[in-house]
Amino acid sequence: MKLAGKVAIVTGAARGIGRASAVLFAKEGARVTVADIRAEMGRETISMIENAGGEASFALTDVSKEDQVKKTVDETVGRWGRVDILFNNAGYPQVKRVEETSEAEWDHLFAVNLKSIFFGVKYAVPIMRRQGGGVILNMGSISGLVGQLRTPGYVASKGAVVLLTKSLALDYGADHIRVNCLCPGITDTPAFREHISSSADPEALIRERQTRVPLGRFLTPEDVARAALYLVSDDSEGITGIAHLVDGGMLAAAEYSSAWL
Ligand SMILES: NC(=O)c1ccc[n+]([C@@H]2O[C@H](COP(=O)([O-])OP(=O)(O)OC[C@H]3O[C@@H](n4cnc5c(N)ncnc54)[C@H](O)[C@@H]3O)[C@@H](O)[C@H]2O)c1
Repeated sequence: MKLAGKVAIVTGAARGIGRASAVLFAKEGARVTVADIRAEMGRETISMIENAGGEASFALTDVSKEDQVKKTVDETVGRWGRVDILFNNAGYPQVKRVEETSEAEWDHLFAVNLKSIFFGVKYAVPIMRRQGGGVILNMGSISGLVGQLRTPGYVASKGAVVLLTKSLALDYGADHIRVNCLCPGITDTPAFREHISSSADPEALIRERQTRVPLGRFLTPEDVARAALYLVSDDSEGITGIAHLVDGGMLAAAEYSSAWL
């Protein structure tokens, strides 16, 4: 088991990539705090972990609120005595041009996608330093590395996650705290399905999107979770400050369509 004896906090773990990661980390021996605003689905994640013989606890946490993030870190330390892994995964897309976006919508997006990482790091780092090290993984996106239509706030928030990650890696490397960032491509999660279902022709959109992926399929939450496991385990112990793509090859090209093959 790759995470035996470790304690992990995974935010946004009630569904999607966060859930798949929490379940995989627990299978690999970690005790996991599942932090999310969705209590019922969060408890389902706990049941999945417990049914597979793992150990986990749910923490109702809005990651955009400093006091709630602090409480979740404190409770994790109170329960299990340490925090080895912080996966700042919670986030959401916002499909709106700038002139359609209110200030409150912009601020909330940045609070959930970016400021949450500031809060998590602020409260986890002193514990990791005291323990002699730890691993922080932040959720970026391919949309943090290149521009994308109609999502300026999302792209800006994920771009900031990439550079925040690199900066944190420099600040905490001497404390043996590694900080990396995961940049998935199109991943078939509940958030993705909600996005697709709001379009005029969901099936046509799915077919069109798939032609853009050199591997010819969307990623599964488990594909991304396995990359997360690599970055939080000792398998990547020489790695800090990177933005790790898991994108089915999308960013290998400036332009690509399987229709051109
Ligand atoms: N699905 C994709 O194609 C894709 C691609 C690149 C990056 N990402 C990123 O991966 C992460 C997970 O995305 P997903 O597709 O699994 O989404 P999802 O909506 O399926 O799951 C996200 C989880 O985060 C939780 N969450 C949202 N706001 C929160 C808050 N304020 N506090 C605590 N929890 C909160 C939700 O309740 C949900 O359980 C996000 O950061 C997203 O931007 C997703």
